[in-house]
This record gives sequence, structure tokens and C-alpha cells, in this order.
Amino acid sequence: MAEPCTVRDLAARIGQTVTIRGWLTHYRSSGRIRFLVLRDGTGVVQTVVKAEAAELAGVESWEQIGQESSLIVTGQVHRDARAPVGVEVEVRAVQVLAATHEYPITPKEHGVDFLMDHRHLWIRSPRQAAILRLRSIIVQAIRGFLDSHGFVVADPPIITPTPAEGSTTLFAIDYFGEPAYLSQSGQLYMEALALALGRVYSFGPTFRAEKSKTRRHLTEFWMIEPEMAFCEFEENLVWQEQLVEHIAQQVLLRALGELNALQRPLAPLENIRTPFPRITYDEALVRLAQLGMPIAWGEDLGAPHETALANQFDCPVFVTHFPTHLKAFYMQPEPTRPEVVRAADLLAPEGYGEIIGGSQRIHDLSLLESRMAEHGLDASSYAWYLDLRRYGTVPHSGFGLGLERLVAWFGGLDHVRETTPFARTLNRVWP
Ligand code: 4AD
Ligand code: MG
Repeated sequence: MAEPCTVRDLAARIGQTVTIRGWLTHYRSSGRIRFLVLRDGTGVVQTVVKAEAAELAGVESWEQIGQESSLIVTGQVHRDARAPVGVEVEVRAVQVLAATHEYPITPKEHGVDFLMDHRHLWIRSPRQAAILRLRSIIVQAIRGFLDSHGFVVADPPIITPTPAEGSTTLFAIDYFGEPAYLSQSGQLYMEALALALGRVYSFGPTFRAEKSKTRRHLTEFWMIEPEMAFCEFEENLVWQEQLVEHIAQQVLLRALGELNALQRPLAPLENIRTPFPRITYDEALVRLAQLGMPIAWGEDLGAPHETALANQFDCPVFVTHFPTHLKAFYMQPEPTRPEVVRAADLLAPEGYGEIIGGSQRIHDLSLLESRMAEHGLDASSYAWYLDLRRYGTVPHSGFGLGLERLVAWFGGLDHVRETTPFARTLNRVWP
């Protein structure tokens, strides 16, 4: 048997005889010629079988090889400018490892519920595989940026006694008789780690019992949470925009095949250039009123407001200085105007909404204690967190980037459920 070769690498093997290990995506015949389209995870290639010239092993007849049969195909690589991978393979031998019949996902259209019920198989489709490869490239870009800027990856616990983002979206667990929760955000621990290591980030799953059924909400999603000691509000925004610009550049460099497979227009990604525009919450309200979508000062922006605001820019936009009462207890109020906080949401264009939430944290002990009291939080459950303000407190800031929303935006996808291998949502915990 010739040396195995991935579909991605076939273009470098023109004229050679190679072996490809993969699965049959579809099959057609025309007279005495059969076409077996194979995928192997790196790409899809058409192979041509002239039946009398090809050996078949593992099954009796060509008719027995259905969609998603696993195959080892040996053949000669020919240039073919029309093919997506630039080559076609003329088959000499096919070994069938597992002949498959009645694969549930056929080339016809299926509804989303059916596809999600078969997610363990749906991920094999070229489009879903392209999304998962895009996600992987984005993960590498995020890590590459943070690692090369001196951030230490330091992961907070997933089982935690201390809620970080309010009590309404907690998943409670019974921890040997003690109450505990799945982490909604590692932020409080990242603050401790920033005071130990300077610049840190976490990269892991977070959990929110979101009752909302929208195209942006999962109950389990991955968040990247950088936290920086000696960092104030403005610098925090610069880190965010540089990170997002870097990811966009890497995606345009490394994921063009995936973006093309997703038919993702490139111009919106090419527009992602720093500095990103910044508008305050107050300015946002003026803009919304002009757009005929007025909201009263103190009300939160909903998804339609975010979309309308973001549509005014062709680049992501920061909305800053939200009313203090809308935001979490740990956010630093603006000293000259304590009714607003030094927080920003980064809104993506094209209706993708909030991608990042971040803020400068309160570093003064008594201010933090009074904000916690206003939120009805029991200081004894946060004793360790308050210690951070007792011992060597410094101004510090950080943010949380939602991986699935970022992948949905970069991939131009309709819904976050396709951005993660096995999405968890309000009404789905299967498969
Ligand atoms: O704005 P959030 O709630 O911020 C925090 O959790 C902060 N503690 C982060 C920090 O400062 N370290 O969430 C951050 C991001 C959102 O902007 C969004 O991209 C994503 O996490 N996110 C979700 N993504 C998918 N499904 C959900 N239910 C999400 N909730 C938040
Ligand atoms: Mg937020």
C-alpha cells in the first residue's frame, strides 16, 4: 500500500500513487465510471473509479458502499483545476473497512432539530467541519496573542462556592452536602491570579442557566478572561481591540478555506482595524432616540438596540460607562460620576451583539464592601475576595471574551449552536 496522504496534502503529490483514508460523502456513476467523493477531515476530494481497472476489497460489489462507509483508497493523483483541492484521484484499489447503509443525514435538506439530534454525525458535514476548524484556528490565535504578550494562562476552578455574575443564572450542585455552583465566570479568581502573576488569562468553560432562547445564548460556553494588574479602564480597551484585530488577521491568513466553505464575505473581517470607535451609554441613548428606538436612562440595551447601534459602524464598537445599577457589584464607578461604571461592552457588527464584557474592578476595600451590601451579597462568602483588597491592592482590569459568539460572528453564522461541537441550550442537553 502506498504511503497515506491527507486530502489537504494531495496537491503536493501530483503524479504519485497515494493512499487516502476517509469516508464516502457521496457517490455517483456515469456509464462505466464511478465517482466516489471522499472526506478525511482535512478536505474533500473526488476519486474516479473505472470499475474493471480497480480492485475492491471488503465487500462484494460497489453497490454495497453507501454514504459514510469508511474506506482506504489507493490511486494516482492528477491535477484538476476545477476541483476544490485542485486534484482528482484515479482509483486503483478500494478497501472497505465498514460498509454503511442508510446513513441518517442525506444530501437532502433536514430541519435543525433533526440535525441537532444527530449532532454526533452532523459534525461530519463539510460545513460543520469547517466551523469547527475555524473555531480551532481562532483558539490558536487567541492563545498566540496572549502568550506572546506575557500573559500567563492560569485557569480558575469550575466548581465554586462564590457566584460571580448574579444569582439568576446559577447551576447549583451538591458538593458533598455543601452548596456550590458551576462557574459563571472565573473573574474573581483571575483577579487573585493577576495580583500573583501580573497578567493572566483563563480559557475554559463557563455555565449559565440562561432561560433565554436566542441565537446568542448557550448554557455552557467558553470564555477567555484576561486580567491585568496595574491596568486601568482605557488600557483594558486597548488590550481588547488589539486581541480582536489580531484574531481577525490570523483568521484572514489561516482560515480562508473555511471562510470560503461558509461563504463568509471577507470585507467585514478586513474592516476590523484598531482603534475601535468608543461611545458612552449616554451617547448610545441619543443615537437610539435618533433611530426611533428611544430608551430611558437607566434601562439596559436589548439585542435590537445593540444591533441598531452596531449597524452604525463597520467595525466593532465599544459602549462604555453603563449605569452602575445595571452592572455587576465589582465594577469601578467613575469617581466624578459614580452613577456610571468604568465598564465597556464590545459590540460586533452585522447583528452579532456583545462579544466582550469588561471593566476596571473596584480596588478600594470599603467601596467594594458598600457595593456588595447594596447588592445584598454576604461578605463572609466573599472573604477571600475581599482579602485581595486588604493585602497590596492595585488598580486592575479585565474582560471576558465569549468564544462561541466570536466564532459565530467570524464565520457569519446564524446561531451559536453551530459554533461548538455539542451545544447545550435551554432545551437541549443531548447528545
Ligand atoms: O459580559 P459577561 O457576563 O462578563 C463576565 O462574565 C465578566 N465576569 C467577564 C470578565 O470581565 N472577566 O460575559 C462575557 C462574554 C459576553 O460578552 C459574551 O460574549 C459571552 O461572554 N457570553 C455568552 N456566550 C454564549 N452564551 C451565553 N449565555 C453567554 N453569556 C455571556
Ligand atoms: Mg455582559
